[in-house]
Amino acid sequence: MDEKTIALVTGANKGIGYEIAAGLGALGWRVGVGARDEGRRAAAVEALRAGGADAFGVPLDVTDDASAAAAADLLADRFGRLDVLVNNAAVTGAAPQEPTVVDLAQVRLVMETNVLGVIRVTNAVLPLLRRSASPRIVNMSSVVGSLTRQSDPDAGTGPIAVAYAPSKTFLNAVTVQYAKELRGTGVLVNLGCPGYCDTDLNGHRGTRSPAQGARVAVRLATLPDGGPSGAFFDEDGPLPW
Ligand SMILES: NC(=O)c1ccc[n+]([C@@H]2O[C@H](COP(=O)([O-])OP(=O)(O)OC[C@H]3O[C@@H](n4cnc5c(N)ncnc54)[C@H](OP(=O)(O)O)[C@@H]3O)[C@@H](O)[C@H]2O)c1
Repeated sequence: MDEKTIALVTGANKGIGYEIAAGLGALGWRVGVGARDEGRRAAAVEALRAGGADAFGVPLDVTDDASAAAAADLLADRFGRLDVLVNNAAVTGAAPQEPTVVDLAQVRLVMETNVLGVIRVTNAVLPLLRRSASPRIVNMSSVVGSLTRQSDPDAGTGPIAVAYAPSKTFLNAVTVQYAKELRGTGVLVNLGCPGYCDTDLNGHRGTRSPAQGARVAVRLATLPDGGPSGAFFDEDGPLPW
């Protein structure tokens, strides 16, 4: 058995996912860079390794059952287990995002990636997580998935986004169900919101750096045994549902 903690980060070739991989690498962990494009994956692994991280590539399209199964096989063959899964990959879907005019194909794509993708990858690697002494799952969500915040006219929660925002509400609910099922197993599964970060996802309008956005994921990936599960946090603490 490998003594180093082994993590997999989905959508780790850029943005917050890349910085999560860098942050976990800085802890001395072995970090799998889950990414669907071979060139972008190789470039990210190279850059992470140049920065001192023990990074390796994991071909992974979260919308594809066979790809998720192959990623699990790669981890099983190389390490025999997984300690930490960070479900970070997500898409926003194309405009328009007003509910009255949205293209249903965009809603399907966003749900397939942001919700079903998380279930697909989690279930593919769960047998490997169960072999870990301290398994952790971190699902990257967003405060735009908070119905409390979205229904508060004074909260200022960004543009109308009928695909992306509900995908994070759905992900939050799914995560609570995982926490219920996995209670007592040692697997802690939580939701992290990175805050509004400067990435491709929002056309670089975010005000926080991707590295700042990664901090909450690193914290949730390193929770001690007996820590919270089924909870929703940003860097400053718990968020409303
Ligand atoms: N940026 C923000 O302000 C913000 C705020 C709240 C929450 N978040 C959340 O934080 C996470 C990271 O967002 P980000 O801002 O870093 O986004 P980003 O820069 O757009 O990166 C998204 C990542 O997901 C990957 N991805 C998309 N679809 C995929 C698929 N089918 N299979 C595998 N990988 C896929 C992308 O890969 P490709 O390069 O191949 O497309 C990319 O690596 C997301 O869950 C997002 O919802 C972000």
